[in-house]
Amino acid sequence: MAAISVCSSYWVISGLAMVLGAMVHRADARAFFVFGDSLVDSGNNNYLATTARADSPPYGIDYPTQQATGRFSNGLNIPDIISEHIGSESPLPYLSPELRNQRLLVGANFASAGIGILSDTGIQFINIIRMHSQLEYFQQYQQRVSALIGAEQAKRLVNQALVLITVGGNDFVNNYYLVPYSARSRQYDLPDYVKFLISEYRKLLLKLYYLGARRVLVTGTGALGCVPAELAMRSTNGGCSEELQRAAALYHAQLETMINDVNRKISSNVFIGANTHQMHTDFISNPQAYGFSTSKIACCGQGPYNGVGLCTILSDLCPNRELFAFWDSFHPSEKANRFIVQQMFTGSTQYMKPMNLSTILDLDSRS
Ligand SMILES: *[C@@H]1O[C@H](CO)[C@@H](O)[C@H](O)[C@H]1NC(C)=O
Repeated sequence: MAAISVCSSYWVISGLAMVLGAMVHRADARAFFVFGDSLVDSGNNNYLATTARADSPPYGIDYPTQQATGRFSNGLNIPDIISEHIGSESPLPYLSPELRNQRLLVGANFASAGIGILSDTGIQFINIIRMHSQLEYFQQYQQRVSALIGAEQAKRLVNQALVLITVGGNDFVNNYYLVPYSARSRQYDLPDYVKFLISEYRKLLLKLYYLGARRVLVTGTGALGCVPAELAMRSTNGGCSEELQRAAALYHAQLETMINDVNRKISSNVFIGANTHQMHTDFISNPQAYGFSTSKIACCGQGPYNGVGLCTILSDLCPNRELFAFWDSFHPSEKANRFIVQQMFTGSTQYMKPMNLSTILDLDSRS
């Protein structure tokens, strides 16, 4: 009898501990940090003197406030949808004056449209937050949070956070392939350029690790040669640009290997690779299966494939954004972003290596 009563009080206590644990976990839900380019910028460029911006209509036409916020989407972008999944507010742009006090504890978005792995990418956009500056801001952020909650708590907040980094596409379209005979294309042939990019990217990831990041979702690029802008510029028969597709394929293969290597070096699965190239290819090769009427024509733009120039108030605008995989000539629609995030959370190892985000969040909630 005594044994049974000890046993049942053990279950009561451990049950209570689990309930308390869940409450503590909710009270300090994990922070979320975002680094990278326009695919994940939530409005930093609004505060900068640059032409790489999405702060006027029709951008944001399907956003909850129906306003252009600086997101390169008709509605939500990938960080917003990840935040929805983890049950937290979407982190504010780091340059937003509203990012202070308790709001800091939700995380921050350091991304800036136009940037690349290399600091000479997107030079035509002039004043944007390049990767090294995004990392400097991350350090500054940590000092601000330390002042708010103490150094030890701040370190814990960063260690327990989810981090997203999306960069690399601009190193092709706004650098190597920006103009014929670009400086980088004269310096490197494509395979050597990709090798160089990956070695520079590796340094950025290690820097993130040294700054305290312990769960980092690393995405590749989209299907670079198939975006409406490239169809308009390079396609002769409606097919994707072979040269840019070759670039994207080389980049993805080496990115996956590099992530693997870095995880091995630090003996932990800190970096999670999302095969966004495959995710994009899925809806580009069979748009109807995803409910899209087209994956070639942008919803907002002008010229062939609506792929020429910027999306502005004067552009052609599709009435139903749900039917378009691409919102503008480079960026997926909110609906396409939702398919991408869905795969991040539930995809097989073909899409997510070494594992999907559902598995990661599950593992982390037990540790
Ligand atoms: C996530 O990945 C795991 C392992 O690959 C798989 O078993 C599972 O079905 C995937 N989806 C979810 C929702 O966890």
